[in-house]
Amino acid sequence: MTDPELDAALKTALAEPPRRVRQLDLPDGRRFWLKRVERLSGRLRLQKGDPAQAFAVERDGLRVAAAAGLPVAGVVAEGPDWVLMPDAGPVLPEVVDAKGLGEAEKMQAFAEAGRALGRLHWAGMAHGRPAVRDVCWDGREARFIDLERFRHARRAGFWQAVDVVMFAQTAFTLWPEDARWLDAALEAYAVSAPEGAMAAVRRLVWWLAPLGWLAAGLSRARPGSRELLAVGLTLARLRR
Ligand SMILES: Nc1ncnc2c1ncn2[C@@H]1O[C@H](COP(=O)(O)OP(=O)(O)O)[C@@H](O)[C@H]1O
Ligand SMILES: [Mg+2]
Repeated sequence: MTDPELDAALKTALAEPPRRVRQLDLPDGRRFWLKRVERLSGRLRLQKGDPAQAFAVERDGLRVAAAAGLPVAGVVAEGPDWVLMPDAGPVLPEVVDAKGLGEAEKMQAFAEAGRALGRLHWAGMAHGRPAVRDVCWDGREARFIDLERFRHARRAGFWQAVDVVMFAQTAFTLWPEDARWLDAALEAYAVSAPEGAMAAVRRLVWWLAPLGWLAAGLSRARPGSRELLAVGLTLARLRR
C-alpha cells in the first residue's frame, strides 16, 4: 500500500510527544485516528492497570472483530505502541447533539448500535465497556471503538450481559429523562442478540439489586451525581 499523504501525516504525528488519542486530518479531507500507549506514573498505573496490556487487548480486538466482519473501527496501520484507525464518524452523544440530524436518523443510529452489539455477541465476543461515547455512527453503520476490555465470551453469558448494563448505565447518565435513545438500541439488540441474551441481562440485574440500594442511599448524600442516579434507572429499565 502506498499512500504518501497518509504516510507523511502519520510520520509527523508519531514524531510528536505522544498523546493517547488524536485525530489526523489529511489535506485531501480524509480523517484517521491515532491511538498510542498511555505512559502512566507508578501510582496511576496501580489505579488504572497496565496501559501496554490494555493497548494490546484493544489492538487484537480491533483486528479479530474486523476480520470477522464485525462492526468495529478496524486497523489501517499499526506499530509496536500505536494503532491507526479509519474515522468511524461521530460518537453517539455527538449524534444526539447534532443540529443537522433529524430525530429519525438519530433513532436509526441507536438502533444500529444495538444491532452492532447483538452481532458482536452473536460472534462470541464482548466489548467490555460499550459506553455510548465508544460507539461511532457514520450515517450508515454503528461501529465500536475503545476495545481495551475486549474479550471472547460465552454467548448470552455474564460478560455480554455486562455490556448491556454498561451501555444502559452510560445512556442514563447522559439522558436520565429521555430513554428514547436507549429504547431504540435495546429493541434492536433484543432481536439481533443470541437467544437468551435478554434473560441473562435480567439475571445479572437481579444480582445487582443491592448495588441499586447502595446507589440510592449514596444518591441522597450526593444528590448531584448523575452516575449514581443512573444506576437506579438502569436497573429498573433492564428488569423489564
Ligand atoms: N476510529 C475512530 N473514529 C471516530 N472517532 C474516534 C475513533 N477513535 C477515537 N475516536 C474519538 O476519540 C475519543 C477517544 O478515543 P477512545 O478510543 O474512546 O479512547 P479513550 O480510551 O481515551 O476513551 C472517542 O471518544 C472518539 O470521540
Ligand atoms: Mg473511550
